[in-house]
Amino acid sequence: MRILSGPSFVKLAENISVELKIPLVKVQFKRFPDGEFYFRLLESIEGEVLLIVQSLPPPQDQHILELIYMLETCRELGARRLIVYAPYLAYSRQDRRYLSGEAVSSKILAQSLERAGASELYTVDIHNLGVLDYYHIPAYNLTAADEIIRYFLAKGVERPLVVAPDDEEAALKRAEVAAKAAGTDYDWLEKQRDRYTGEIVTAEKTLNVSGRDAVIIDDIISTGGTAANAARILKKQGARRVYVGVTHALLAENALGRLREAGIEEVVGTDSIPGPVSKITTAPIIARKLKSM
Ligand code: R5P
Repeated sequence: MRILSGPSFVKLAENISVELKIPLVKVQFKRFPDGEFYFRLLESIEGEVLLIVQSLPPPQDQHILELIYMLETCRELGARRLIVYAPYLAYSRQDRRYLSGEAVSSKILAQSLERAGASELYTVDIHNLGVLDYYHIPAYNLTAADEIIRYFLAKGVERPLVVAPDDEEAALKRAEVAAKAAGTDYDWLEKQRDRYTGEIVTAEKTLNVSGRDAVIIDDIISTGGTAANAARILKKQGARRVYVGVTHALLAENALGRLREAGIEEVVGTDSIPGPVSKITTAPIIARKLKSM
């Protein structure tokens, strides 16, 4: 296997290359003065199995197109298998037509990647597992929940209550994984979001958090409203310190300000979305998975 980095975050591919002890394929990317993308393979990949590393954070459409260029080029030039590692799989929240006339973006992305030549896909903490059903190629979801909780434990967070800020199946599973890795307990809250206004309402619920640290574990922080609501409930019930660990820190619309106002000690995310809080690499997650196969 060889590793090919897309331009969305080369450091992630370098970390995977170190974990797997496999060098990166030499490539060239650039943008022309008018903004158009240029991609060139600088060595032959004929007959190779390639791991293409390209997360799809904002600007999502740009990163998707770059991935399609890389897939098509490698396919045309004779790669044997093209394994895509996209820890943040953009558009996974638009998994169906919620309002009439909407584009089912996650399905369109699946079709586009397959047509371009992807033969396998790995992602991390996908918002909705059902999205993977749109793929006809093998498509797998991994989790960063255990890496995230280990980050907090290493920083001195003690016997935290792990909290899922909503009661969806995937959120509960992530909280369970994190709690197990920390040897502690977990609980969850229930939230509703107005599909038109985006307003988030989280129901009050008594949690075993008085005098304890709490770590909110979620897949995504977008506006920060979900985590901020959960943090306020935890603080009100006497939590000592509240932390937030997310896989994909999108941080839209002053999310960090909103989280600070809610009294959160620290927000941490992974390198699926490079940015001010992405302190955890997902490289060991995909490396472990590939080594185990
Ligand atoms: C929702 O179901 C997700 O798991 C996240 O909780 C949500 O996407 C976070 O969005 P926001 O930060 O805007 O509340």
